[in-house]
Amino acid sequence: MTPEQFFTHLWQDYIAIAPAAARLHARVAARGERIVNDHVAFRSFDLDPIGLAQLEPHLLALGYRRFEPYVFEDKGLRAWGYVHPGGHPRIFLSELETRRFSRDLQNLVAGLCRQVPAAAVADPSIFWAGRPWAPVSHATWQALRDESEYAAWVAALGLRANHFTISVNALTTFADLPALLDFVEAEGFVLNTAGGRIKGSPEVLLEQAATLADRVPVAFAGGEVHDIPTCYYEFARRYPRPDGELYEGFVAASADRIFESTDTRAIDPTRGGQTS
Ligand code: NI
Repeated sequence: MTPEQFFTHLWQDYIAIAPAAARLHARVAARGERIVNDHVAFRSFDLDPIGLAQLEPHLLALGYRRFEPYVFEDKGLRAWGYVHPGGHPRIFLSELETRRFSRDLQNLVAGLCRQVPAAAVADPSIFWAGRPWAPVSHATWQALRDESEYAAWVAALGLRANHFTISVNALTTFADLPALLDFVEAEGFVLNTAGGRIKGSPEVLLEQAATLADRVPVAFAGGEVHDIPTCYYEFARRYPRPDGELYEGFVAASADRIFESTDTRAIDPTRGGQTS
């Protein structure tokens, strides 16, 4: 498996559940841009066999190395950033710290993780194979969402690429991130405005923004089908450090708000408390 093959699989899986991302990619490419992916991010649970430590060997086998750990206290998450010496996209691998949530959530997530065959995790296709457990009920998804939007997302969709990211640095027809965002909005895509349209700043060496997650019909237990938020497209502009090298990390305060691109309740108060 080469990194190129790895990302081809991820992209196909990503646009299958977030077709809006493929449309946006095509609109930007139509301007003559050669789109460079800054990073992808995965979401998982901290339980056997899909904890961060068990998934990491696949990334190391692709030539990635650990860069920095990140902690998201409010959301009960921890993550590692990975970089590749060959210049392949960065990877952000996060997991929910289940022990920080209710006993109900812990039991439910443990029940999902017990369904994952060890053989499935022995292959890198675990990152694009979809949900590796039986579908949860829509009521369970809602109950999870009340505690952790992240938990509900992983339960419904599995551990898979949550977003790709257009590198603003590599664009040639946009002067800066605001110019790209103006184009994205003019093309009819809705941005995540939690924490402002742009998260971060040149001072922290990283500016980020994201669309709101696409919504597609997902099958729940009992054959019920509901539209739920799936994946979003992110945009990132990196700035050089004092030594002249481009900043390689992530900014936790910004990522914290970017996570909310899949949380329609956090962004659109008219949906708050909606139960169907
Ligand atoms: Ni990201």
